[in-house]
Amino acid sequence: MRNLIPSWIRVPILFFIVAGIVEFFVDSGNQPAFIKYPAVLMFLLLVLFILIAIEGIVGSLENVMFQKLDPEAQARFLADKEKATEFPWLKKTYLKLLGSKPIEQEGEIILDHNYDGIKELDNDLPPWWKYAFIISIIFAAIYLLRYEVFSGPSQIEEFDTELAEAKIAIEAYKKTAKGLVDVNTVTVLTETADLTAGKTIFETNCVACHMADGGGGIGPNLTDNHWILGGDIKSIFHTVSEGGRAGKGMIAWKAQLKPLEIAQVASYVLTFQGTTPANPKAPEGDIIINETTEAAEAVTDTTETASPELKDESVSEPE
Ligand code: HEC
Repeated sequence: MRNLIPSWIRVPILFFIVAGIVEFFVDSGNQPAFIKYPAVLMFLLLVLFILIAIEGIVGSLENVMFQKLDPEAQARFLADKEKATEFPWLKKTYLKLLGSKPIEQEGEIILDHNYDGIKELDNDLPPWWKYAFIISIIFAAIYLLRYEVFSGPSQIEEFDTELAEAKIAIEAYKKTAKGLVDVNTVTVLTETADLTAGKTIFETNCVACHMADGGGGIGPNLTDNHWILGGDIKSIFHTVSEGGRAGKGMIAWKAQLKPLEIAQVASYVLTFQGTTPANPKAPEGDIIINETTEAAEAVTDTTETASPELKDESVSEPE
């Protein structure tokens, strides 16, 4: 067994097995263990040293014993060793695939012409070549049938399907990874869990200025459909994360709240729409009708006729 694998293969294999085990068991974050911990490096070097030392010792023991043998036994030992180290199966397969006749048998395949002493051998095609040729014919036949006769998908179609699959996978990922939201991708969250979380965030951070029922105080009333900074989910997300106009008192919350939390509290703010707070602050800003939320209800609260005209007015006002 020992002679089957030469030492220049055996030592690296054993060494990398040990190194792999060490790497597996030593928790070193995303750095390799032997870089993070010099002790591990020392250990691995020691292992390498010991492996080489063992090889050396066994080699010299063998040498000493070899010297003690009588010449006949020495010859037998050498022959054995020769046979063992040569990967006999590898050599056999190689010769078989090569398919060449040994030089002693060349007489059988020599052709009977002779050009100035140059003779020609009638060698068979090497089996490796023959097999590769047959396999390529089979491949070509299958390929032809699949793609030309039964019109399988072209590379462009394959690319398109893969692209579509990837897009679906990205969407699915984004759904599970809500934390990835930003002002461009945020949507109104409707799940109870999100709204409860939003409520908690609102009650810890926002009630001082907006009141628990959103009626307003230092900050504007959040229950009406008048908005200074925009009343759709994206605008609210933007207001909360970047803050209001300078000097008004609404700070940027992005340092304190994670994107998901901002989305949750923004969605919660939208649930105030149309509710009637205890001490409502007078409306500020423009009326903004929001199809994505229940803002429509809020419109009926104020003026039935309002929506289109008021909206137009508010748009034309600045000019
Ligand atoms: C220190 C007081 C204060 C706190 C705390 C505060 N806000 Fe505000 N908020 C304001 C003021 C003042 C404005 C008006 C900003 C402006 O006019 O530019 C405002 C504006 C807003 C607006 C925009 C309203 C509109 O009409 O466009 C939203 C939405 C909002 N706040 C949500 C929140 C949320 C959510 C929190 C908690 C994370 C919060 N605010 C915490 C004072 C506050």
